[in-house]
Amino acid sequence: MAFEPSPVARQRPRVLSGIQPTAGSFHLGNYLGAVRQWVALQETHDAFYMVVDLHAITVPQDPAELRANTRLAAAQLLAAGLDPERCTLFVQSHVPEHAQLGWVMNCLTGFGEASRMTQFKDKSAKQGADRTTVGLFTYPILQVADILLYQADAVPVGEDQRQHIELTRDLAERFNGRFDQGAARPTFTIPDAYIVRETAKIYDLQDPAVKMSKSASSPKGLVNLLDEPKASAKKFKSAVTDTDTVIRYDTEAKPGVSNLLTIYATLTGTAVPELERRYEGKGYGALKTDLAEVFTEWVTPFRQRTQEYLDDPESLDSVLAKGAEKARAVAAETLATVYDRVGFVPAKH
Ligand code: AMP
Ligand code: TRP
Repeated sequence: MAFEPSPVARQRPRVLSGIQPTAGSFHLGNYLGAVRQWVALQETHDAFYMVVDLHAITVPQDPAELRANTRLAAAQLLAAGLDPERCTLFVQSHVPEHAQLGWVMNCLTGFGEASRMTQFKDKSAKQGADRTTVGLFTYPILQVADILLYQADAVPVGEDQRQHIELTRDLAERFNGRFDQGAARPTFTIPDAYIVRETAKIYDLQDPAVKMSKSASSPKGLVNLLDEPKASAKKFKSAVTDTDTVIRYDTEAKPGVSNLLTIYATLTGTAVPELERRYEGKGYGALKTDLAEVFTEWVTPFRQRTQEYLDDPESLDSVLAKGAEKARAVAAETLATVYDRVGFVPAKH
């Protein structure tokens, strides 16, 4: 008899997302584009969040740094407001099913299809072809596996991840179409991207035409949350705006000012039109100085909390161990269905 997954009693829709532990500190784009939404969604959704260390080794890494940065990423997620009582927080490599389902999904993906992933094209162009690994090429397919293992309904991410979520939907539909004949339930839930329009893309403070990114050409446009707040305040004060003086939200004509307004509005919970009113007749200098202050006020306790979690590595590791256990229970069930439906002989126990 074919294996059927037990119907999981789910009161809430499920979300899943991941963040890489490559850079050490999260930057403001990570926080506003993704992590903030993770924190909000744990109140309304069955939420799974992970530090994607398997993804981190697709580019050259130092083992000691990766280990430190993985714990540092978890500490920052907790400091940002994730609560292990409300969500499942874990490290990707603690759940072997990610790599296992990743392989199956690799075998379902066309070479041309994978070649069209723009993030791969960007990253490999930056590194040069001779330093680009096959792991980097199949990175989006591992992400597909991450999402499908948990039967996620929605995936909170920034705009740059939209194409990977589209690939996830395509491959889930392909698998279900090919292997679900006669099954009572589809193997995979088809997930939606959950992208909050206002903060989907936070821009570089020096070059508001490109997204804020850890691989920015100049560090002056990148706001790292764990940097000295004074250094970040300076970056806000020297942010590129335009030669006009009017503070107005207009992403076409005033991308720099609009970016600052978005950041200000989100950090303080103030609507952008209200900020426009408040700064009427005032110059860019006032806006930048105030934003530097708003950011400092927000980031200071964040940095303190991160340090507190780091100072207690045993508790941190135990949060992650509990998370992995909860994650594995879900992941194992999905993988068992997949293995059965593709035609693997069950292992005797
Ligand atoms: P990464 O650091 O690449 O692992 O990204 C983690 C999360 O942050 C993903 O959901 C990204 O989409 C999001 N993200 C990264 N950079 C930005 C940005 N500049 N604006 C908005 N979201 C971003
Ligand atoms: N690729 C994502 C990024 O660079 C990180 C990621 C890995 C992820 N697996 C995921 C995001 C699963 C959402 C769901 O930001």
